Amino acid sequence: MDLGLAGRVALVAGASTGLGRAVAERLAREGADIVVNARSRETLEATAAEIARETGRRIVPAPGDVTSEQCCAELVKTAVGTFGRLDVLIANAGGPPPGGADAFAPESYRKALELNLMSTVQLALAAVPEMRKKRWGRVIAITSVSVKQPVEGLILSNTARPGVVGFVKTLSREVARDGILCNVVAPGFIQTDRLRELFDARAEKQGTDWKSVREQIAASVPMGRLGRPEELAAAVTFLASDAASYVTGHTFQIDGGLLQGLL
Ligand SMILES: NC(=O)c1ccc[n+]([C@@H]2O[C@H](COP(=O)([O-])OP(=O)(O)OC[C@H]3O[C@@H](n4cnc5c(N)ncnc54)[C@H](OP(=O)(O)O)[C@@H]3O)[C@@H](O)[C@H]2O)c1
Repeated sequence: MDLGLAGRVALVAGASTGLGRAVAERLAREGADIVVNARSRETLEATAAEIARETGRRIVPAPGDVTSEQCCAELVKTAVGTFGRLDVLIANAGGPPPGGADAFAPESYRKALELNLMSTVQLALAAVPEMRKKRWGRVIAITSVSVKQPVEGLILSNTARPGVVGFVKTLSREVARDGILCNVVAPGFIQTDRLRELFDARAEKQGTDWKSVREQIAASVPMGRLGRPEELAAAVTFLASDAASYVTGHTFQIDGGLLQGLL
């Protein structure tokens, strides 16, 4: 299927490793040029060089912290300054630390809101005016299944992420007539560095090791295994494409069947 992504320009935040990197790589394979972002310049530059080598696309590393409003505005400027347009925004960043209600003071909640909610708001508010100019755009926010069902021991994530769904859904209705489609993807358990951190935290609590936790979690997924970053990237790439031309305002679980709710 031709996804119509050749010649499109994407900005992928949180893209030096894990899910963001996999999405950037897949979008580039489909012919998009990309601005990739993360905080650590060294890892980001290495990732950008690898993706460029593998795909032959232009991959521009733009280091910065998406909790900063100025950084988000600069990222959009970099895309437009380099490629003359911005078609696809992938709003993504790291996850907040694991822990329950006893573990954190209010300041940690503020930081989680900055990391997972405000970064998405800031990136989208900067990107949408550029997409409006071309009357075509895709805003895709990477969150977590915690937007539909809280994940045990992740109170900060469970608190900060549902606001992303409220924001993206509202935005999707306001910009639909401008040709801009906005959706959320909600990963379950996908094998990345972030997941290893969560396994370590649970293992410590249970007095076991991370491999046992990984087995327990894999067994709790109907498909009997963790996801691979490229499986999430495939779904995101569909949403970014012309093929998703009547899909907006939706939240898609990419979770191997983990959640039990009907919707
Ligand atoms: N993997 C899963 O199973 C899963 C499940 C549910 C939700 N999620 C969520 O999905 C998102 C991506 O997950 P992942 O597994 O790919 O995580 P990851 O492996 O930790 O990768 C996070 C990426 O974001 C960058 N980053 C972190 N904080 C940033 C910031 N403030 N500004 C810019 N870039 C930032 C990191 O690079 P730097 O550190 O250099 O900035 C890295 O490139 C996270 O929010 C995670 O919590 C993941």
